[in-house]
Formats: sequence, structure tokens, C-alpha cells
Amino acid sequence: MCGIVGYIGKKNAVPILIDGLKKLEYRGYDSSGIAIYSNNHIIIEKSKGRLTNLEEKIENKNFNSHLGIGHTRWATHGEPSDLNAHPHTNTEETIAVIHNGIIENYLELKNFLESECNIKLKSETDTEVIAHLIDYYFEGNLLDAVYKAVHRMEGAYAIGVICKNEPDKLIAVRKDSPLIIGIGENENFIASDIPAILKHTKNILLVENNEFVEITKDTIQIYDNLKRTVDRKPFEVTWDIESAEKEGYEHFTLKEIHEQPRAVLNTLNHNLKNGKINFENLKITKEELQAFDKIYIIGCGTAYNAGLIGKYALKKFAGINAICDIASEFRYNDPLIDEKTLVICISQSGETLDTLQSLRLAKEKGAKILSIVNIVGSSLTRESDYIFYTLGGPEIGVASTKIFTCQLLGFYLISLHFAKLLNKMNDDEISTYINELTTIPNKIESILNNQDQIKKISSMQFNNESIFYMGRNIDMEIAYESSLKLKEISYINSFAIGAGELKHGTIALVKENTFVISFATQENLFDKMVSNIKEIKARGAHVLTVVKESSKNIENLCDEILKIPNTFDIFTPLLSIIPMQLLAYYISVMRGNDVDKPRNLAKSVTVE
Ligand code: G6P
Repeated sequence: MCGIVGYIGKKNAVPILIDGLKKLEYRGYDSSGIAIYSNNHIIIEKSKGRLTNLEEKIENKNFNSHLGIGHTRWATHGEPSDLNAHPHTNTEETIAVIHNGIIENYLELKNFLESECNIKLKSETDTEVIAHLIDYYFEGNLLDAVYKAVHRMEGAYAIGVICKNEPDKLIAVRKDSPLIIGIGENENFIASDIPAILKHTKNILLVENNEFVEITKDTIQIYDNLKRTVDRKPFEVTWDIESAEKEGYEHFTLKEIHEQPRAVLNTLNHNLKNGKINFENLKITKEELQAFDKIYIIGCGTAYNAGLIGKYALKKFAGINAICDIASEFRYNDPLIDEKTLVICISQSGETLDTLQSLRLAKEKGAKILSIVNIVGSSLTRESDYIFYTLGGPEIGVASTKIFTCQLLGFYLISLHFAKLLNKMNDDEISTYINELTTIPNKIESILNNQDQIKKISSMQFNNESIFYMGRNIDMEIAYESSLKLKEISYINSFAIGAGELKHGTIALVKENTFVISFATQENLFDKMVSNIKEIKARGAHVLTVVKESSKNIENLCDEILKIPNTFDIFTPLLSIIPMQLLAYYISVMRGNDVDKPRNLAKSVTVE
């Protein structure tokens, strides 16, 4: 998804912008560009493809400027190309604009500019209309012109604007797309996300929806939609850039897979006090919880898969029957929501548009929102009633790994807490589960310390054209997440299925050497899984089965057995996903893919 960065200060903006854009690469992009003010001109440089293309383009130009904006584009309107890359300008190139989001009434604005103002647009983007519109309203005050232009726009946007006639200013606006400000000494920054500017400052201001910001090198003034000044206190980021760097790992994805013991431990420790659950931002009372007669769980991608598993935990521990839905379906499916509804939103970024819009829809209808989120200060956290933070640190690899396990942990803790509030479990029972959770980081570590088998399987299967996954109940949900991981980074055709559904169609695909990964970690379903494995073995499948160490011996039945440490059945997803993440990772590397930034994918999907 697009990333924006901006600088105003005493230093040369160009390396700061390029470095900031590099830190935003994880969001996914297909082109990039910068606009700087230099020698009484706005200079634009942009390029399709990787940032290195842009760097090569500007390498020998010796630009020096104290003001600039930069952008990584993820195409929505118009193909990825030099022309469609941001920044965009007005005809005279006196105003340059970067934008993350979508201008929904762009056609109407384009028609207006073309017919009423005789302007010819150069690109196919929705963003270019913003530059022309600001120009149309410009009468000597950039902020006023931006106000007027933005008030005609519908959609989602985080925008940065610079103007040749006001070279001491950077203007930014936000609605439904992420935007933060970094406060420096004699310099200030804007960006889509903190890592872009963390090298320069840890002092951050959050921009809220419908706010406008006027930034000079020494001042920052936030205004609301009606141009009234807004006071906002900055906050200090506690993590540093080191945790956003690779630390010797070949890829962020591998580093993040390896960070899981610590990520889970941090999340756990933060929410326990003397062995008991103690939430900081999730102060729900027994009465509030009892008042809900419906609970929805919503999310996208991996977060949704975490929700599927969370549903089992809520049922097992708290006796709650929740409905889990994909956010993009939920919002268009007339969900039955009222004041007695609790909606649990899950999101790593806290910025995924479908999840956010689902939240807003639910709030409009009176529901309360509990969010499980990783990014502090993200939109989701600001609009939620209760928050559970996954304390996994920044996740850079596009495919979510460590935050998935933290999201699962979040669900387990929330479900145990609800069980206590609703008197479904006594303290001793809850303690037994919590004690087991405290053993999970070491168990993950032991899987990470034994990767030979997974590497070997990867080297045997990396050229495969399709890999299937199957399981039952909670194992079926982990099959979905395992398959998603493989698809995302290996590009191998893959799907997951409830093993009981095999004979209703899918078994037709199984032939000699079809590689099937099955999960048989649930004791009550073990024999059923054995039958399913026999069904596909009889058709020639090559079967790898994931079991617990204590499992009955089925080595004769399968081609490979992958053992995970013992734990309660309900907690096995925390362990069984680890070798599956590793498998997807090694296969992706062996296929020569860009593991951290897979094709066509974005880390944070802030458009529909
Ligand atoms: C994108 C990412 C996925 C992620 C999904 C939801 O598709 O590539 O890894 O699971 O968005 O993102 P969220 O930030 O809401 O968890």
C-alpha cells in the first residue's frame, strides 16, 4: 500500500526521503518518486519498479533541498508507470502532491477540471486531480487552498503538499489513511508509519481523521475540519530502529519467525500479574460482558485466520458462540448488530480499510468494539472501546508470522478472562491453562532449534505445483493459515480443507505424489484423521502429518511425520503454525522469490 514521507528542515531532504521510503517498502509498492524544492523550482523525479531505480535516476544530480516529499505507490487508478508514480503536480509544476488512499469522486473532479478549467491531466491517477484542485483554489495561501480542495474530495487520503510559492511549508491532511508527524530539532517530518522517520526522531504526533497540518522547520500546527487549532501532545516511541532491521537474518520474515518466543513472552508477561490476567486497556466489566447477546469476530487475511481459532477459544473457555467473518464480507452483509453486540476486530496494522469500515458500521449501529492490534496509535485503536495490544514489535515481512501467534495468544487470554467474568471456570482451572501458556515460548524455541526436517521437506517440494492442507476443527483453521502462508510467499497453488469434506469433491484432485499436509493434533479427532489420511494414501498422495510428540504412532501410514511439543489441544495452533511458516519461508527462498515483499501483495491494505 502506498507510503508517504515528507521533510522540512536544515538538512538535505533527498537522502532523508529515500531512506524513509526504504523503511516503507514493506507496505508493498510498484513505483516511487520524490518532489523537492530547489533553486526556486519544484523538481520531480519518479520511477517505476524498485526504489533502486529512483536512486539510480537521481544518483549524479547532486540535489540539495531543505523541503521535499516522497512516495511509494501501489497502483489503484492507472498501471504502474513513471507517469502514474507520485508526486503529481499542477500544470505549471508549482504544487506537488503525494497521496495514500483513493479519491472516490475523482471522475467528477476530473470532469470539472477538464471542462470548467480547461486542464489536461497527464496521468491516469486520482491523485493528480488533487494537485490541480489545490492550484485552482490557490490565492496566495497554500493551507487555505488545500482546505478548499479537500472539502470537495470524497474518499480516503493521507496527503502531503509542497508549493513553490511557500517553500517554508509542508501541508498534510488525513482522512482514513495513516499519517504521523515526527518532531525534530529545526526539522519536522511526515510519514505513513513510524519506521520511516525513527532514525531521526522518536517524538511522534498522531494526525486524526479530517485534520490538516501546517508544518515549518520549527513549528507544527494541527487544525480541525473547520480550521480551529487543535492541541495534541506528542508521544515517545519506545522501540528503536534496530528492532526494525534484519539483525543478521537473510530476510525480515525469517527474523520475525524467530522472534516468536520473545513476542509471545512479551505479550503474555504484559498481561499477567502474579500469574493472573491483568489487562491494561481492556477494562470490560462482568455486567458489560453479560449484556452482550452476540459476538462477532472480524479481520482480513492472517488476522481473520487468527479469529477463526479465537472462536474455538471463546467457546471452549467462556461458553460463547461467536460468529467469525471476513471484514470485506461482514460490512456488505447486513450484519445483525445493535447495542447488545460486541465486535472483536483483529488487525496487525490497525489500518486495514475493510476492518476499519466494519468497525465503523458496527459502531454506528451501537455495538461495542474490542480490538486486538499491534500498532499503538493506529486508527483501529483510536476508535475502539477495548484494546488488546499484541506486543510483537514491528512486523516488516508482508506475510504475517509473529503477530499471528500473538493474536492467538490474545484470544486465549481474552477467552480465559471472559470465562472468569462469566463464572465458567474457576481460578484453578484458569491457572492451569495460564501455566501451560507460559511454557509455549520455550516450546516454540525448541521447534525453531530443529529445522533440518523442514529444510529437507522444503528442498523436496519446492518445485511442486500444488500443495494441499487438511485438518479438522481447530486443525482445519491452522491448515487455512498454513496454506495462506505458502501461497503468499511461494506462489504455489494451495488450498486447505476440512478433512471431512475431502470425499465431497476435493479427493478428485488427489493422484500419485500429490503432496498433502495433514494435521492430527486433536485427540478426539485423531482416528477420524487417520481415516482421511488412509483415503488419500490409497490414491497415491504423499502425506506429511503434523502430530503432537505424545501422539499414537502413525509413521507407517504417512510419508513424513512432523512432531510438535505436547500441549493442550486448544493451544496446538501456537506450535503447529511454526513449522508451516518455516516451510513456506524455505520454499519461497528456494524458488528465488522476494520473500519479504511478495508480488502483488501489500503489508497494509488501506484501500478496498
Ligand atoms: C494484508 C497482509 C496480510 C494481513 C492482512 C490483514 O493482506 O499482506 O499479511 O494478514 O493484510 O492485515 P492487518 O494489518 O489488518 O492484520
